[in-house]
Amino acid sequence: MSASTFLSEFIRNWKTVGAIAPSGPALAERMMESAEIWKAQHILELGPGTGAFTAAIQDARDNNSHYLGIEINETFAGQLRTRFQSMTFAVAGAQEFDLNAYLAGKPPIDVIVSGLPWTAFPRSLQEGILGNVLPHLAPGGRFATFAYFGFHRLPSGQRFRQLLHQELPGVETSRVVWANLPPAFVYVGRK
Ligand SMILES: C[S@@+](CC[C@H](N)C(=O)[O-])C[C@H]1O[C@@H](n2cnc3c(N)ncnc32)[C@H](O)[C@@H]1O
Repeated sequence: MSASTFLSEFIRNWKTVGAIAPSGPALAERMMESAEIWKAQHILELGPGTGAFTAAIQDARDNNSHYLGIEINETFAGQLRTRFQSMTFAVAGAQEFDLNAYLAGKPPIDVIVSGLPWTAFPRSLQEGILGNVLPHLAPGGRFATFAYFGFHRLPSGQRFRQLLHQELPGVETSRVVWANLPPAFVYVGRK
């Protein structure tokens, strides 16, 4: 899957795609370390896009773990289904996907990895998504997401950081991944 697919979807859906290029491998690796993905039994990925983090999850995860990716963009979801055939993808907004129905008979979610462009979202959507997914994170479970360095100082970036600190005690911030374009860092919190 190419960077050109990502760019063309950004041009068509800039409000939801929220970045002009997919995350790079160095940021994906930092996300996997922060999430301790290899320990997870059930992984939820929000906004997998063109699969930058999904590929790293596939490589690092326990072979017996469960995985669900929730992606709002049908073009991305179709390509993800073709590329990652042992993984499950839902086309939906993360704020509205019915996790109660999905989780029936499955182990609880113990890691959430997010590729969502939080800074581009209004407060209501930031709250709506966190309010829909965090209640389904098991006690002790980890939530990892990233922010672009510099953009985290925008009002919407500060608001997201505050929300995260309200919802999860002890949110930590990683060192900046300068090799990513744009440079980014990871927020990780434990429920
Ligand atoms: C910045 S891109 C990141 C893609 C990929 N995770 C990466 O890091 O390269 C954000 C992704 O989130 C998806 N997205 C945006 N809003 C969403 C929502 N409410 N629910 C689910 N996915 C959403 C977009 O379609 C896009 O694929």
